[in-house]
Amino acid sequence: MPVVVPPPDPAGLPAPAWLLQVLLVFTFILHVLAMNLLVGGTTIMAISLRKGRNSAFHAELAKRLSKALPVTMSLTITLGVAPLLFVQVLYGQAFYTASVLMAWPWLSVIALVLLAYYGLYLVQFRPDWLGKWVTPIAWVSAVFILLVGLLYTHNATLNLAPNKWASLYAMSAAGLHLNWSEPTLIPRYLHFMVAAFAVAGLGIALLGVQAKKAQDAWGQEAVAYGARWFLGATLVQIVVGLWFLFSLPSNLMQNFIGGNIVHTAILWGGVVLAVIALLLVNRYLLGSVALTVLAITLMAITRHSLRGMYLQPYLDVRTLAVNPQWGMFVIFAVLLVAGLAVVGWMVWQFYKSGQPQKAAVE
Ligand code: HEM
Repeated sequence: MPVVVPPPDPAGLPAPAWLLQVLLVFTFILHVLAMNLLVGGTTIMAISLRKGRNSAFHAELAKRLSKALPVTMSLTITLGVAPLLFVQVLYGQAFYTASVLMAWPWLSVIALVLLAYYGLYLVQFRPDWLGKWVTPIAWVSAVFILLVGLLYTHNATLNLAPNKWASLYAMSAAGLHLNWSEPTLIPRYLHFMVAAFAVAGLGIALLGVQAKKAQDAWGQEAVAYGARWFLGATLVQIVVGLWFLFSLPSNLMQNFIGGNIVHTAILWGGVVLAVIALLLVNRYLLGSVALTVLAITLMAITRHSLRGMYLQPYLDVRTLAVNPQWGMFVIFAVLLVAGLAVVGWMVWQFYKSGQPQKAAVE
């Protein structure tokens, strides 16, 4: 069957492609950081709620996480909207096609996100009302959030496969396709999810540092526990990351193993930073956090380059017509900077407070 790619939006890009790509990658990094804390944090909270029956440390951890997670969820969603806009503008031909092919599972993301959000709120504000159901409800939220991540990877990989679009649509136009036959699907998904547990571990360690400052004995244990999650997940990531790399089509993989010096340096630079972060986590937590954020930045750039390589034969954003709307762009940029400043201030206030509120799980 011939490859069919829908035509680009005749309105053209509202700003140069390079600028939109920089903003796409930048806002995606912010989304991923919040998403990692959410995915790892929710699952670890569910584990701690169970363990908290016999352990004061885990009961306190679950309480503190229950307070942080609804806010983390709203950050994940809000910080997802910005890359969504850039993806639609730059890669609408691929993004809408993939979204139409998997329409029903894709729409179910809204229900899953809402239900998971409700669950997190119930665990934070109504633990007494939930009684023994508090742990199962936390698990339902965790599983739904993990499922949302999987649906995003189905969508992202379908985006990259124009050669499949026409035949899938010809097979069925019911909007029920997923991308299970894609060899990179599972390693790619695991790569994101394992990273989430590493980053959430760092988040827990940071909560511990804050508690330690307030002379809180719990803090010491939290730093060690968070660092263990970071260590364990990053070690697993070495295997998962290599699996992902070697599952790529070999002509694309070559670019990351010496075929292209820039792509190779960016990918392996990220790996080296993650390994250094691993070695430092027990001694210089803040250094380890900074290196991890840098490693994620290099990985996000790699992910973006990989998308360009996949789509190159079919569509190239550099060839799209540009019809600049600078007035709109300036309004967007000012609001983005102001919004990020407010979010940064909120996170800082939360971190500084260090105390769980009364409403958290008792
Ligand atoms: C709440 C749970 C969420 C989770 C666990 C999650 C997870 C993920 C993951 C794993 C990816 C990467 C997929 C891949 O490349 O294989 C991703 C990408 C993305 N997410 Fe989220 N996400 C969530 C919510 C959202 C929401 C609500 C939005 C939008 C409002 C959003 C917007 C995006 C966008 C636009 C991308 C792709 C960016 C690009 O292609 O460069 N996410 N998400």
